[in-house]
Amino acid sequence: MTLLKTSCEVSTLRQLGWTIVQHTSAHGIPNVFRSRHWFRKLVWTAFVFFALCCALWQCTEMVLTYFSYPSHDKITLISSAKLKFPAVTICNLNSVRLSSLNRSFAMFTSLQDSGLEMAHRRNRSHIWNSSADFPDEYVQYAGAFKKFASEFNQLSDEQKTEMGHNLEDMLIFCNFHGQECNTSFFSRFINYKFGNCYTFNSQKTTDVEGNLISIEALNITKAGFMYGLHLELFIQQIEYIRDMTHSAGIRLLIHDQSQMPFPEDEGVNIPPGAETDIGMMKVHIKRLKSPYESQCTEGENVKNYYKDSYGAGYTREACKRTCAQQSIMENCGCSHWEFASPKELHYTKCNLSTPGVRDCVELYEFKFAHDDLNCHCPLQCMEELYELTVSGSQWPSTAFIGSFSRSLKAFRAFQIAQSSRRDNFVKVVVYFKQLNYELIEEEPSMTEIDLISNMGGLVGLWVGFSVCTLAEFFELFIDVLLFFIQRCLRKAPPEVYRNPYLEKQRPGYISCKTTTI
Ligand SMILES: *[C@@H]1O[C@H](CO)[C@@H](O)[C@H](O)[C@H]1NC(C)=O
Ligand SMILES: *[C@@H]1O[C@H](CO)[C@@H](O)[C@H](O)[C@H]1NC(C)=O
Ligand SMILES: *[C@@H]1O[C@H](CO)[C@@H](O)[C@H](O)[C@H]1NC(C)=O
Ligand SMILES: *[C@@H]1O[C@H](CO)[C@@H](O)[C@H](O)[C@H]1NC(C)=O
Ligand SMILES: *[C@@H]1O[C@H](CO)[C@@H](O)[C@H](O)[C@H]1NC(C)=O
Ligand SMILES: *[C@@H]1O[C@H](CO)[C@@H](O)[C@H](O)[C@H]1NC(C)=O
Repeated sequence: MTLLKTSCEVSTLRQLGWTIVQHTSAHGIPNVFRSRHWFRKLVWTAFVFFALCCALWQCTEMVLTYFSYPSHDKITLISSAKLKFPAVTICNLNSVRLSSLNRSFAMFTSLQDSGLEMAHRRNRSHIWNSSADFPDEYVQYAGAFKKFASEFNQLSDEQKTEMGHNLEDMLIFCNFHGQECNTSFFSRFINYKFGNCYTFNSQKTTDVEGNLISIEALNITKAGFMYGLHLELFIQQIEYIRDMTHSAGIRLLIHDQSQMPFPEDEGVNIPPGAETDIGMMKVHIKRLKSPYESQCTEGENVKNYYKDSYGAGYTREACKRTCAQQSIMENCGCSHWEFASPKELHYTKCNLSTPGVRDCVELYEFKFAHDDLNCHCPLQCMEELYELTVSGSQWPSTAFIGSFSRSLKAFRAFQIAQSSRRDNFVKVVVYFKQLNYELIEEEPSMTEIDLISNMGGLVGLWVGFSVCTLAEFFELFIDVLLFFIQRCLRKAPPEVYRNPYLEKQRPGYISCKTTTI
């Protein structure tokens, strides 16, 4: 009787599994049990095992790929009816006006030094025709320039502004989108190399009391030459310092309003005596934050002295310069004129005449130039670039030059010799070639949904598994659980317990009673 009972129970449990296994939607497994011959069973078992291994291996690969966070770039051309006009920064290539230099001024000596070095260089290059000596002389010249820059930058901002070229004197014609503009459309900042630089449409302006206020950016609703920014500038070549400035014209940069312009490293030079037309095309770049490949940042928790001094947004260049300035401040105890230094920090400007300071500053300049400062400066997440097409023509033309100078005389008393008119005037036109822009977006190559569907596909391909199969196994688990609960309950009363669950005659279930008979 006991024997019968146990055998009955065991066979029920086995049958429970048996039915599941035979009817499971995971193909392969039923085939193992369906096969009558042992050899077929063996082959099926081996095959099911092999398929399971393949599925596991490929799923592991898939998960590993997902956690390496792959990404790719998507390029779209977006057509737009209106575009924000970028900021246009102009700097005269000459930083200090000759007439503002006083003979007693220390800077004058350094200028004469550099002048001597230049003459020396010419003498030597005249004698030796090999270029072997060139770097050495270049270093000497750079040294004189640095001495000059060092002395110039010891001055206060007001003095520097006063000594540089003034926009009121330079701007003779300004037209934007068919409307006249004047100096109030520009904001000024001081660059260590070019002195006064002026930014058109910088979204910043000064009110009557001289406080910075922000204004809305200008928009462009039509592409083409006619609807751009037309500027005519008088570059005052007579004020150029002979030994410091060897080329004449202006440096022009096109950049986003939130970006700090670095005219010493970026931009294009515009020569006098020519009309330079600059057609631009906007490129908008969006990058992904960590953990994706470019690991961009929006500048949170990154020191940016350009934000403190100029209200500029985060860029990699600004970060690198801030980092260099920080190293110099910490190690040399002074602030370098090449980089922004917030007034709140109260660091004095580096005086290169002091030997210890000079060596220290030179070391960090070298490290900055060789990217050796261990700065963590990731790229910015949003970047707006402008691809430029530059073309030029002679301006003013021979036919026009007469009436051009007459029109100038009517407005201002420019005392310029007939022969040097072309040397003193710059015309530049900046316009959008088209209102469409290119959007380059970094996007994840694999999202969570991709991962799940890829894994589902693989598991389905190799072993025919699906979420429903999982539900079947869950059902089996519940059944087994119920079975054992019933067995425990049955043990308590001695009489044969009838399992109502089994008596329901679920398809595929063979009740214990029928087996025992
Ligand atoms: C240059 O000289 C003028 C007077 O001739 C004086 O007002 C000015 O302050 C001097 N500038 C400097 C930088 O010494
Ligand atoms: C350049 O060479 C000429 C002679 O060739 C000499 O008279 C002059 O002093 C030299 N200038 C310098 C700066 O060495
Ligand atoms: C210039 O170079 C040529 C060969 O490169 C050499 O023969 C000549 O002597 C050189 N001139 C001087 C002045 O060194
Ligand atoms: C500049 O132009 C604005 C209007 O566009 C005008 O209000 C302002 O007075 C002008 N400023 C000068 C200095 O001409
Ligand atoms: C330019 O367009 C922006 C966005 O459409 C708008 O907010 C802004 O007021 C416009 N600027 C001007 C000067 O109209
Ligand atoms: C720089 O240092 C030198 C020598 O130590 C000194 O003569 C000069 O006045 C200093 N310059 C400034 C602007 O402090």
